[in-house]
Amino acid sequence: MELKEVIGRRRTIRIFVPYRPVEREKVQKMLEAARRASCAGNVMNVRAIVIWREQADPKVIKAIAPRIGYQQMHTAPVFIFWYSESSVYHGDAWPDSVLRLADARRIGLRVEDTYAEVNDKLRPMFLMAGQQMGVAPLAFMDVGQAVAQATLVAYEEGLGSCLMSSPRLEKVAKMFNLPETAVPICVQALGYPAESWEAGGQTPKPALGEMFFDMEVGKPFASDPKVEDELKAAKLIDEPAPLPWRDAELEFLMRALGLENTLLNEVDP
Ligand SMILES: Cc1cc2nc3c(=O)[nH]c(=O)nc-3n(C[C@H](O)[C@H](O)[C@H](O)COP(=O)(O)O)c2cc1C
Repeated sequence: MELKEVIGRRRTIRIFVPYRPVEREKVQKMLEAARRASCAGNVMNVRAIVIWREQADPKVIKAIAPRIGYQQMHTAPVFIFWYSESSVYHGDAWPDSVLRLADARRIGLRVEDTYAEVNDKLRPMFLMAGQQMGVAPLAFMDVGQAVAQATLVAYEEGLGSCLMSSPRLEKVAKMFNLPETAVPICVQALGYPAESWEAGGQTPKPALGEMFFDMEVGKPFASDPKVEDELKAAKLIDEPAPLPWRDAELEFLMRALGLENTLLNEVDP
């Protein structure tokens, strides 16, 4: 599948085939994609714990469950707990990472000059700012980039996923004895979609010009209809939700997977 089609197909999946395990290889491919994400200073703060439902302590599964969106909780065979390891920004870690970039010839021109610049000018700055940078938006963006790459690989491999924020993230972090420097970001439910891949249509988003601007805030970035047509042909732009048969699909799945009562009764505060 071409990249644009994978992006077009990606949409949150909340109902998975509960009896079909996810192959370990597919999860490895996702993690390799996450490992190759861009990251400020290449400090690579992204971390993840893969949680296989069948092997997990039921207490962990219960702790992951958010109060809304339980379908994915009850049907996903795998969860990935993504977090940021903020210690990679502390002390000398960041400037040392930049020096490794110089060694690999991925930054700067001459290695000695880059070393001198980093050590003399940047290191003192990083030593002061590191603690703050570990919990700054940039750090969380880097985790987001890694998760996005992993997610696209998952869809390319025929899987679906639902990212979940939950007030229970901290509780899960405690269960895994994460260090204090760990900042939980989200839990990703993962599995083969029980829904059709369309899942009722592409999730509607605000118009391009409402979100993105040209030269100044409020001046919409104009959408060229020719580009839209090209993206439709490449399947990045897909039929918007809701497709006419979505309600019937959901009703069918609820009955087939016995999720109806679960949804109504198992609200777990
Ligand atoms: C960081 C993050 C947290 C989310 N948390 C939840 C959640 O707790 N429960 C849920 O049902 N969906 C959750 N979602 C899924 C969003 O509701 C979904 O991505 C959104 O409706 C956009 O749909 P799309 O992913 O199909 O584009 C989350 C998504 C993200 C990116």
